[in-house]
Formats: sequence, structure tokens, C-alpha cells
Amino acid sequence: METQSQWSSKLGFILASAGSAIGLGAMWKFPYVMADNGGAAFLFIFVIFTMLVGFPLLLSEFVIGRHSNTYSTQSFGVLTGRKSYNLIGHLGNIGVFLLLSFYSVIGGWILIYIIRTIVILVTGSPTQDYEGVFGSLISNPLYAIGGQALFIVLTALIVAKGIRNGIERASKIMMPLLFIAFIIIIIRSLTLNNAMEGVSYFLKPDFAKLSADSILFALGQSFFSLSVGFGGMLTYASYLNKKTDLTQSGLSVVGLNLIITVLAGLAIFPATASLGIEAAQGPGLLFIVLPYVFDQLPFGHLFYLIFLMLFFFATITSSISLLEINVSNATKNQNSRRITAVVLLSIGLFVLGIPSALSSGMLSDVTFLAGTFFDNMDFLVSNILLPLGALLFSLFTGYVLDQRMSRSELVTQSYQEPLFKLWIFLLKFVIPLVIIGVFLSLIMK
Ligand code: PFF
Repeated sequence: METQSQWSSKLGFILASAGSAIGLGAMWKFPYVMADNGGAAFLFIFVIFTMLVGFPLLLSEFVIGRHSNTYSTQSFGVLTGRKSYNLIGHLGNIGVFLLLSFYSVIGGWILIYIIRTIVILVTGSPTQDYEGVFGSLISNPLYAIGGQALFIVLTALIVAKGIRNGIERASKIMMPLLFIAFIIIIIRSLTLNNAMEGVSYFLKPDFAKLSADSILFALGQSFFSLSVGFGGMLTYASYLNKKTDLTQSGLSVVGLNLIITVLAGLAIFPATASLGIEAAQGPGLLFIVLPYVFDQLPFGHLFYLIFLMLFFFATITSSISLLEINVSNATKNQNSRRITAVVLLSIGLFVLGIPSALSSGMLSDVTFLAGTFFDNMDFLVSNILLPLGALLFSLFTGYVLDQRMSRSELVTQSYQEPLFKLWIFLLKFVIPLVIIGVFLSLIMK
């Protein structure tokens, strides 16, 4: 039997996990919602939810992954002797496949814009109609499907190389580059006229502006942005040696994710404030507002290209974790089957992603339930499957898993014992209630 692959270092594990967490979640919706909902007041609420909901769930994935030392559709059964619990792993395995099929569509848009910006840098032809250009690019099937395919191929190439040479190496290169790109953009943004107005718009605490909707968003985001609920962190922790301190590693991942969230705001708002324009969220921010902002600045295309690269690093380090979950389950962690699994899964993802890619063009009129095909996939994954996965993880760890087992993974020094009790309490009572609350309100919307 082949031995299981492992990370070469704790740093590799932390950077890969942080790479999975830091993605579109933290970067393109969060800053906007934060600015609109009381700035630092909203951040404060988010930090609390992250510590009370996201972080305990992250530790639960870490404990299950490392202790079982196996892939997510088998780990629950290995730990309890009851195969039926593996259903939690199967749910996550399906969830990530669906998620990646449309996450890769957005990854494709980023790639198309990177290529386009490089062409503009070389030929020097500026754009005027930002909205029109974005609309025509994403509605063109060739670009939409081509971009998505390219993004899947890049993700597949990294995952095919395995844990150390693929995922760990890519994370060790891309995560530092992500931070460097952020620093460059933030220096550029903060040195613009009126920059401080943007900073204060983003950060100034105003508790009166917190709305029920924003609080719900903060809750959902506390597990989406930490990649918990589908077994991604479980999978990464299953490649971890026994020495690494799980709590410390988890705190590093949470900390990095929070820092990025704030950095994203510091990069965006001073820039939009300096031109006196409204910031936006999601695609509108990255593909319409920011190109406009950077077009007004000297060397603007270059800065915009750095911005796009930053989004690309954040997105692809998340997508490799998504694909890795499927690959580890499909191969049952046997490296000799890795390449075949990566190829077959990528083809499947590409095919399933086509209707999502066409949802902004040819299929934009085909709507049902939550909207276009893309909207429905997003709704199903983000509002139903992921909260359900997170709920099952908390119930499983709180009620089913032998506490001596989880204690042996988490408590290495005596001061950690009360924290362990608090963790169990949160998983048993607080997190399930919170998730059911979010779940019901999202479904009823
Ligand atoms: N955390 C990623 C983001 O914020 O974009 C999304 C994600 C990745 C969710 C991996 C779940 C997952 F298993």
C-alpha cells in the first residue's frame, strides 16, 4: 500500500489552508458590505462570528482530517466505525464539485481580463465604455467558455503535481506574491488625493448602520470564507504530521483571512473615493469600477494588471483546494491514480460549468427559481449545501466524535483544557442554532 503524501512543512500547510480560505469571498463582496454596514462595527461583528463559528468549525475539520489520516468520504467512518457518517464527506465532495464548476467561470473572467489588460499595455488602446466591454466579453461564449476552460486547466496542472510539488509549492509562491501585490496597490491607493476619505468611509465604526441582512451575511461569510463545511480543511489536515499544533495553525489561517479582508478594503476605497465614484461589489467592482479608476492614473493599466493578478492568486489557491478534495476521494489517496483522476474530474467540471459560463450570455434569459443557471448553482451551494455541511460537521464533532480523540488532537498543554470545553459547547449548542437560523432566513428570502 502506498504511504499517504504529506506537507513538507507547517508553513506549507498554513499557506495552503490560508490560500483555500482567501478567495472571492473575502475580496470582492466583503469590503463593500462592510463599508455599507457600519465599517469597523461590521468588522467587529464579523470577527466575533469568525471566532465563535468559523474557527471552531475549522478546528473540527482539522481534528477529523488529521486523526483519521484519510480522505473525506472515509474519515467519518474510520473515526466512528459507522460508515453511515461518511455521508457528511459525500455531501462535501458533491458540494465542492458544484462550487468549482461556477467558481471557475469567474476565474475565467479574471484570466480574460488579465490577457486583455496585457494586450492594452502593449498596444496602448484605452477603453471608454467599461460596462459595455464587460458585458460583451462575458456574454461571448468563446471567451466565457474559453476562460473557464483555461482556469480549470491551470488548476488541474497544479493539483496533478501532487501535495508537495503542486499545491504546497504553488501556495508558497502565490501567497507571498498576493501580499506583495496588495502592498503595491495599497501604497498607490493611499497616496491618491482624498484617499483618507475612502479609508474613513470603509473603517469608521457606526453600529447604527448594522442591518439584519448584513449580520446574516457576516454569519454565512464566517464559514464560506474559511472554506469550512465541505471537508476542504479536513483534506488538507489529513496530509499533516502529528507534531503541528492545530489551534495555532488555525489561528494563523483565521488571522491571515481577516488581514486580507481589511487590506482589500484599503486597496479599493481610497481609489474610488479619490475619483468621487461609488464603489461596487462582485463583478461590477473588479471589471467595471476598478478599470475606470486605474485608467485615470499614470501607469494605471499596470496597477490594474497587478490587481487582477492578486485576484487570480486568491481565486486559484481556493480552486486547487476544491479540486483536491475530489481528487483525494476519487483516488482514495493513491498517487498513481492522481493524473487520471485530475483529467476526468476536470472534464466533468468543464462540462458542468458550461451552462454557468453561458448564464451571462446565450442562457441569460433562461431563468428559474433563484435566477439563471449560475444563480441557482450559487444559491444551492452557498445557501443550502455549505450551511448544511457546516451544521453536520458541528453536530458530528459535538455529539458523535469521541471527545478523548479530539482532546488528544487539540489539548497539548493544561491551559488549553478550558478552551477545549468551550469548543465542545460551541459545537454542541451555539453553532447548530446559529446555522439553523441563517439557513431558515436565507431559504425564506
Ligand atoms: N473560501 C473560498 C472563498 O472565500 O472564496 C471559497 C471556498 C473554498 C469554500 C473551498 C469552500 C471550500 F471548501
